[in-house]
Amino acid sequence: MPLVAMKDMLAHAHAHGYAVGAFDVVSLDFLEGVMAAAEETRAPVIVSLAESHFEHFDFELLMPAVEAAAKRARIPVAIHLDHGTGLETLVRAIRLGCNGVMIDASNAPFEENVRRTREAVEMAHGCGIPVEGELGYVPGVEGADAELHPGEMRYTTVEEAKEYVAETGVDFLAVSVGTVHGRMKGEPDLDLDRLAAINEALGIPLVIHGGTGLAQAQYEGLIARGVTKINYYTALADAAGRQIAANEAGGARPAGYAERTRGVAEAVAREAARMIRLWGGADRAGEVLAAAAPWREVEHLIIYNVEGLDEEGTRAMMQRGRRVLGAIPGVRRVFIGEAVQEGAGYRYVWLVRFCHPAVIDSYRDHPAHVVFADTEFRPVAGGRISIDYMALPVDADRQAEGADETAASPAPSE
Ligand code: 13P
Repeated sequence: MPLVAMKDMLAHAHAHGYAVGAFDVVSLDFLEGVMAAAEETRAPVIVSLAESHFEHFDFELLMPAVEAAAKRARIPVAIHLDHGTGLETLVRAIRLGCNGVMIDASNAPFEENVRRTREAVEMAHGCGIPVEGELGYVPGVEGADAELHPGEMRYTTVEEAKEYVAETGVDFLAVSVGTVHGRMKGEPDLDLDRLAAINEALGIPLVIHGGTGLAQAQYEGLIARGVTKINYYTALADAAGRQIAANEAGGARPAGYAERTRGVAEAVAREAARMIRLWGGADRAGEVLAAAAPWREVEHLIIYNVEGLDEEGTRAMMQRGRRVLGAIPGVRRVFIGEAVQEGAGYRYVWLVRFCHPAVIDSYRDHPAHVVFADTEFRPVAGGRISIDYMALPVDADRQAEGADETAASPAPSE
């Protein structure tokens, strides 16, 4: 189950002077490529899903695959929402399995950026989830020619960075020191002195967006000054595109989808592995697995009987509860059920899955839970048992076979 706490993963990189690749995935080919690269290089990896890419894939459909890939991996993995624009997306991402989130209000004025980021941090920390904020502005669009979207580059200042981190409580900070999202003509001009001063003032993992297209010495300069997470997408997309073009050029007759996309995962893997090695993450998997807390979810179980409501009323109450409780941040799913055996001591069950033990408290105190529990549930469910259970980590033998904690039998190894 090497889905691990992203904060621990990045703390390790920060302390040991390397950067973890945060690779944006837009399809199964990208996901397979990124995971293969991390396995091959024995590196920690962040699988990143950008809100700006949601037009390319169905977030609800891709996330179960990302989670399955992370859970069966032998290397430490974190799953991150990239460039989340508001609370609603962040709550959704956490529900779907992201264990790190970015709130990007960097194009708003400073005060508004602080306000929106603080709100995001309060919600996410209540779910045990670390938050990346961005200060300053990195222009451009991932996957496009940077000069098509020039925008106005705004460098992060040391003074604002100190105030922003103190006011918001973000765990990681994306800084603007000269990189641009997307394909650049030539190399960007990086302000490494500024970065060094920010690193010294903050002492938290720093993030670079617009990771594509820098020279090796530039990456090294960034990493030596506190950059611990590098976001990378355009070069992966270009590698995939070149592979498709080569497939088309090589075919004697027009090929179908499978022929045209053959080798895309491998092309993505080659490019991701190249960067992982360059950024110093190769062969760090074992150390990170030892240092980082495994990501463990909680099942909040309530078994109960109902008095004062008939069968229909009970079912309606449970359905309302599922809607209300399922929307609380940190809740991943709400199972409502009736005992199969007629004579069961407890006829009904709630199984509410929390993304992290922190949700035990934030859920209990959440106004929507308090109102539902006090007015609808507790008055009719006097005799009940309520217990929180944390998932046991997979044991080492099954881990070596690539099993996750919910698999009935080990996943087949390749
Ligand atoms: P590139 O597309 O320039 O690699 O940037 C990726 C990024 O910053 C995603 O957040």
